Amino acid sequence: MVELSAGPGGDQFDALAADMFGYLHGLQRHGDAVAVDVAGVRTAVLYDLDSIYRVLADKLQHVGMAPVFERLSHATGSGILTNYHWPTWHPRRRRIVKPLGARSVGRFRDRMTAIIDDELGSWPVAGEFDLYAAVRRLTLRVVADLLFSTDLTTEAVAVIDRAVEEIHAWAESDPANEDLANEPESFRSAIADLHALIDSVIATRDRADPGQDMIGVLVAASTEPDPPLDTAGVRDEAVTLILAGHETVTNTISFAVDLLGRNPGARSCEPRHIVDETLRLYPPVHVTNRAVVADFDVGDFVIPAGWEVLIPEYVIYRDERHFERPGEFLPDRWADHASLRLNRRAYFPFLTGPKFCVGSHFALLEATEAVGRFTTRFDHEMLDPEPPWGREFALSFAPDRPLPCRLALR
Ligand code: HEM
Repeated sequence: MVELSAGPGGDQFDALAADMFGYLHGLQRHGDAVAVDVAGVRTAVLYDLDSIYRVLADKLQHVGMAPVFERLSHATGSGILTNYHWPTWHPRRRRIVKPLGARSVGRFRDRMTAIIDDELGSWPVAGEFDLYAAVRRLTLRVVADLLFSTDLTTEAVAVIDRAVEEIHAWAESDPANEDLANEPESFRSAIADLHALIDSVIATRDRADPGQDMIGVLVAASTEPDPPLDTAGVRDEAVTLILAGHETVTNTISFAVDLLGRNPGARSCEPRHIVDETLRLYPPVHVTNRAVVADFDVGDFVIPAGWEVLIPEYVIYRDERHFERPGEFLPDRWADHASLRLNRRAYFPFLTGPKFCVGSHFALLEATEAVGRFTTRFDHEMLDPEPPWGREFALSFAPDRPLPCRLALR
């Protein structure tokens, strides 16, 4: 029986902002479900897996979009990530899920690996270079190919990069401030440029011959019962796919290569296990937030309407109740469950339930191919003696600094 226990009194925002994971780790001493005030909102912080799975399984009857996503929604509009309205969300999701599903993503493999090989081939051997910037470019090319089946011009790359950075910066600037009308001018213009870029691609397609890429899937005349999307709808989903799919995979590949540089013994592990272990130590989605919109019975207790739920993935994935030697980078734990205690339920980097990541198969294919091809081609050394940290208040747990690296051909 898990209780919703009272955590420390007073608003906890400053303590959380000072050291997010230290705070969330320490909070567990109050119980497996803890109630605290954060930035004026009553918040249930959940560590108990049964309660977490109930929240994530909800069919958007009890949970809605957390304020942290409001800012993102100024860029993604009604796109599925920031859409919690079942009647509009569900048909759009259905349209996107299939072409990105396990059976379909294989058809992207050849083009994807060609881009990866081309990019890796351009990375300088000897001398110092910023791995993070190089990976960002690689993943941007891959996601652009998925969406537009075209290589991006330098200007288009700059437009997307600037929009991603502006979204991060606004999310981080003052996370407790929900003055949403007050978008910074730089954010507004970066998003306007991104929208114009996507609109210009959509304008080249028509329903009779929409193309085979994801823009084509979105533009294509839909079959009943799903209504066709208008231009704004197509654009919102395209922006969503760029923002959800570019940054997260960039983080995964960058942290994986960084971890391999610091743990060279792991280079020979299966690339897929290296990716799984990277997602455990540096989950791109490091916390999950939901607004509770109707009293929600999650099993042993009820979370009242008006509260928020916070699920601290980062802390759960490093909990020794679930993972042996949790702070260590041990990719083989994913091959040999018996030797290293592993609770698969305590690991959900793509979430679970209706809002489960639609891009998970694509992301795992891309990250695994990139890591495998990197280790086959290069030996490397990370030059910063301090391992990187993630941006805690950004929308994804992105490296907080450049990743200086030196490569040698194998
Ligand atoms: C390692 C890489 C990735 C990770 C860890 C990841 C993780 C997640 C998580 C945790 C969510 C749920 C967010 C929430 O509801 O609070 C999500 C949603 C989503 N992801 Fe991913 N993702 C990754 C890559 C991708 C890629 C490559 C794409 C697209 C090609 C993508 C597209 C989406 C979309 C569209 C949603 C919204 C789904 C919905 O709300 O119905 N993701 N992702």
